[in-house]
Amino acid sequence: MPNISRRGASAPASPIRRLTPFADQARARGVHVFHLNIGQPDLPTVAPMLAAYRNFDVATVAYSPSQGFADYREALASYYNNPAIIRDQAAVTPDQILVTVGGSEALLFTIAATCDPGDEIVVAEPYYTNYGGFAHLLNVGVRPLTTHASEGFTIPAQRVADAIGPRTRAVVIPTPGNPTGAVLRYDDLVAIGEVCRERGVFLVVDEVYREFVYPTAQNPEPTVAASILGVPGMADHAVVIDSVSKRYSACGARVGNLVTRNPELYAACLKFAQARLSPPTVDQVAAMAALKTPEPDMRAMVEEYHRRRDTLVAGLREIPGVSCPTPDGAFYLIADLPVTDAEAFCVFLLRDFDLDGETVMMAPANGFYATPNTGQNQVRIAYVLGEQRLRRCLEILRAGLAAYETRSAK
Ligand SMILES: Cc1ncc(COP(=O)(O)O)c(C=O)c1O
Repeated sequence: MPNISRRGASAPASPIRRLTPFADQARARGVHVFHLNIGQPDLPTVAPMLAAYRNFDVATVAYSPSQGFADYREALASYYNNPAIIRDQAAVTPDQILVTVGGSEALLFTIAATCDPGDEIVVAEPYYTNYGGFAHLLNVGVRPLTTHASEGFTIPAQRVADAIGPRTRAVVIPTPGNPTGAVLRYDDLVAIGEVCRERGVFLVVDEVYREFVYPTAQNPEPTVAASILGVPGMADHAVVIDSVSKRYSACGARVGNLVTRNPELYAACLKFAQARLSPPTVDQVAAMAALKTPEPDMRAMVEEYHRRRDTLVAGLREIPGVSCPTPDGAFYLIADLPVTDAEAFCVFLLRDFDLDGETVMMAPANGFYATPNTGQNQVRIAYVLGEQRLRRCLEILRAGLAAYETRSAK
């Protein structure tokens, strides 16, 4: 048998899916597994999008232009130019938008267009590990800066500056964050942007959870996360990663896009896009319809996640030894558990435990850190289940921790 590449053999496994064989075994034993490990929303896809799929009626499903349909890019530009989405900014034009196969391909193209083999990206750990997966694919290294629960996982600009090395070409950060749920303020983006400009590196801001921001005491009104597109002076340096997956509860549509005002960077990404020919045709039509989702429907979705977050955070804090910051956005949180090895505990829940035939699957957080032996007692929880089921998951977690403690004491 021929050998596969070293790159393939050494590719990192996703911490989100790593425990799947144990979940499969649990199911085979007849145990129901609640999935809190993966960001697959359970809410229905927005109605205009579903209607567009139903009404799609053509004789030939053809390729679209490599950069995406012109009318979709125009509609996206109008979306960004709505002051409720991005405040105080120079207009985004359709030729700054490249439609991709999910936000994932936008990340791949962006890292490929900003970094050469041997270069590095800076990420803020715990981080969305596919940044590392794509970097690995491109022989690009990952330099982490560590963020902390005690600071609400915010990303201080000074720590970004300290992490940038001689081979760093781009800083890649999400807001709102996966896996932390942290939302960067406009001032944070300005400060990080300044660091990137001074050091001559790109700033890639992954804004796929832009709409999922929850009111706070300081900001009680519904709002969206600040965008790097609204920060002046970043035209050459900034790239936005975007996607319909989470915003419209349509992960399977596989439509995302990048936005950059840097024409050279855009041209490089377009060449990669031409090599893969076309983003999905049918799904772009549906994604364009999604932009017409009525505001109250979008708000209802965010309110649903907000209620879930409150239920989950309150319930976790009632379990002895469990703590977590309150995430301001997205639908994830990082929780500290009273165990030394959260991965072993997650395996225990799937392999050795059930509460009346039910158990939960969570993602051990050590896989979200590039620094070895970090986050060992943490898990990432995705609140992608309704409140009633989340309450049941909390019962299972509480009972699981007690059983694990008893077992460890033996
Ligand atoms: C932070 C972040 N960026 C990008 C993506 C990619 O999403 P997609 O390729 O479905 O657009 C995800 C998916 O979970 C994500 O959490």
